[in-house]
Amino acid sequence: MTPELKDALTRSSAEVEAAMDALVPLPQSLEARVYNSMRYSLFAGGKRLRPFLVMASGDLFHVPRENSVRAAAAIEMIHTYSLIHDDLPCMDDDDLRRGKPTNHRQFDEATAVLAGDALQPKAFQTLLDPATDRDPLIRLELARTLADAAGAEGMVGGQMIDLQAETTSYGLDQITRLQNMKTGALIAWSCEAGAILGHATDTERAALRGYGLEVGLAFQIADDILDVEGSPEEMGKATAKDADAGKETFITLMGLDGARKRARELVDSAVARLDLFGQRAFLLKDVAAYVIDRRS
Ligand code: IPE
Ligand code: IPE
Ligand code: MG
Ligand code: MG
Ligand code: MG
Repeated sequence: MTPELKDALTRSSAEVEAAMDALVPLPQSLEARVYNSMRYSLFAGGKRLRPFLVMASGDLFHVPRENSVRAAAAIEMIHTYSLIHDDLPCMDDDDLRRGKPTNHRQFDEATAVLAGDALQPKAFQTLLDPATDRDPLIRLELARTLADAAGAEGMVGGQMIDLQAETTSYGLDQITRLQNMKTGALIAWSCEAGAILGHATDTERAALRGYGLEVGLAFQIADDILDVEGSPEEMGKATAKDADAGKETFITLMGLDGARKRARELVDSAVARLDLFGQRAFLLKDVAAYVIDRRS
């Protein structure tokens, strides 16, 4: 990782954490347990890649950070909810996440379900608040597109196919579609959100969305490679899960080298889409390379 990217990630992580801390306070009332559970997973760590993408995309259009950080917090809430539910016994049944016990291990299953449930409306509440943008049409566009990305047309639909990939043999086209939905949709939205807040032209917005989809797909291929090659210590979560579950992935279809090559091609293609922004987009180019070189 370049020193510039490291600094930028440190800064955007601190900003989004401060925003989430203010958006999800800990009340002293009877329902405090669900807030405790939400905050446990929100502040368990994590790379904060999606918030970084929102803010770095917004920076291309000089979107004030006080605005883009709210969209960044919203996507991190949706992402965190997706992880809490992904780890449940009825899904991947995991005990370790972000280097700590999974939410249902720390609390209990019902609380983990409720914490995930509550993080979803909290994300939309955050986007739809006038503090995100004083133009209601911008707020609506952010909420509409995030609903598309998070629901059955996006992440949830991808999770459904992913579970079925444990017992069904899919081809490359179907696995690509599944990964685009499961992981690409939220990462593409992160990049598109900066463009929406920045009143980007259709061409600029499409370039950022296309970049995000390809980076997202490369990110999931890297996750699947690290599931084979990484260690729980580095990853903060169990590894060898996909093979144990008998899951069809890019690796079962293309082998490790084939998957690595595909991820590299996707990153090259994603980076080329940013050419219209010139040198201004250097951090987004750097982070695309990091996505496949990472060890955690
Ligand atoms: C994990 O996402 C789930 C996938 C989509 C592969 P991340 O690897 O971004 O998880 P955190 O946020 O850093 O914990
Ligand atoms: C889950 O994919 C991606 C989500 C949409 C939550 P994985 O099941 O591979 O994610 P990890 O490996 O548990 O983080
Ligand atoms: Mg899963
Ligand atoms: Mg999982
Ligand atoms: Mg995985």
